[in-house]
Amino acid sequence: MSGAPSARSISDLTLRCIPPLPEHVARPWDTADEYLLTETSADKISVIVNDRFGALFCARPQAFAWSDSISARNNWLSNAQENHLPDAGEQRILSQLQDIPADTEQVLLRIPKNSEQLIYWLNIITKAAPHAVIYLAGMAKHIPVALLKQLESASQRYQQWPIRKKARLLEIEGWRSPAIQEFKGYRTDTGLQLGAQPGVFSRDSQDIASYLLLANIECPANARHLIDLGCGNGLLGLTLAQRWPHINITAIDDSLCAVESCRRNATENQLPLSAVHNDSLTGLDAEADIIVCNPPFHDGHRQTTDIALRMFRDASEHLTDSGELWVIANRHLPYFAALKRTFRQVTTVASDKRFNLFRARK
Ligand SMILES: C[S@@+](CC[C@H](N)C(=O)[O-])C[C@H]1O[C@@H](n2cnc3c(N)ncnc32)[C@H](O)[C@@H]1O
Repeated sequence: MSGAPSARSISDLTLRCIPPLPEHVARPWDTADEYLLTETSADKISVIVNDRFGALFCARPQAFAWSDSISARNNWLSNAQENHLPDAGEQRILSQLQDIPADTEQVLLRIPKNSEQLIYWLNIITKAAPHAVIYLAGMAKHIPVALLKQLESASQRYQQWPIRKKARLLEIEGWRSPAIQEFKGYRTDTGLQLGAQPGVFSRDSQDIASYLLLANIECPANARHLIDLGCGNGLLGLTLAQRWPHINITAIDDSLCAVESCRRNATENQLPLSAVHNDSLTGLDAEADIIVCNPPFHDGHRQTTDIALRMFRDASEHLTDSGELWVIANRHLPYFAALKRTFRQVTTVASDKRFNLFRARK
């Protein structure tokens, strides 16, 4: 294609994690990305799945790409701009995995942490592009043997490449799409039926941390708008929508499957709630009287408090003057001190053996 941007190697690219992270915490690419790029052809019609920071997106500027995570997609675009790939923009990003072109020849996929989610993705990819060869890569220590066996038994052709620089590469064709429950969940003790797609946090049962928050949270006087930040299947926002019908509720999550699950749960439980796919509160001009948050402590395989700390800072900027942030978290996490740095008044409202519930006021 004349004028089309050509493939690049990772070493020719300037890649950053956004927001920035120290190099010893996270790097914007790893040897599994390198492995995928060296063993796949840049000339084939390709789709990239689950690239975290844009290494694959920038190295293969003709490929389509999809991720469940909106912060990942934002990282791709920033890194593409940084590397002067103006055409590597939004038109390459598929909004749904189902949108994969039928003539896709190869898929470059970074293996997610949740194996059920991987199986779900492979089923969708195979339905949309049955002739694509699928290359799966990840760091060897993160790929359980049980998953390798499952991939081998459900593929007509399965090739396991040797481990290289601690990364593993697999190649499969003729995926036989095992049956999995695409939407399943549990009933809460307030009578909500909450389902979720594979990969959504706490899909099988109610997260135990949530009980302490829901038992102790109070509605500030005159509150009109509540944000459920990091909503997952919508458990917190929907339970509070049931309890406080006079309040408008917005639920936000970085994960598309979480947002879609939450939206469906709102409809099926006939509760008014608007679910938004967003990275924390970045770019939103919403103001809230109350923000509830059961913050994430992982980014993929990496344990991190960075996202939670950013959520706290964002919350302080989006609360009304009398607004309150309610945070439920494991006791060992240093969130009291972190909240103290941003908020005028922080109270531990309740605790049990494992969790603390904090209320922070501006
Ligand atoms: C511990 S779960 C809580 C889910 C739900 N609120 C509950 O209590 O069951 C944290 C949620 O935060 C979401 N998350 C992670 N990073 C995020 C970000 N940058 N912006 C918004 N949500 C994020 C995750 O996808 C996950 O659904």
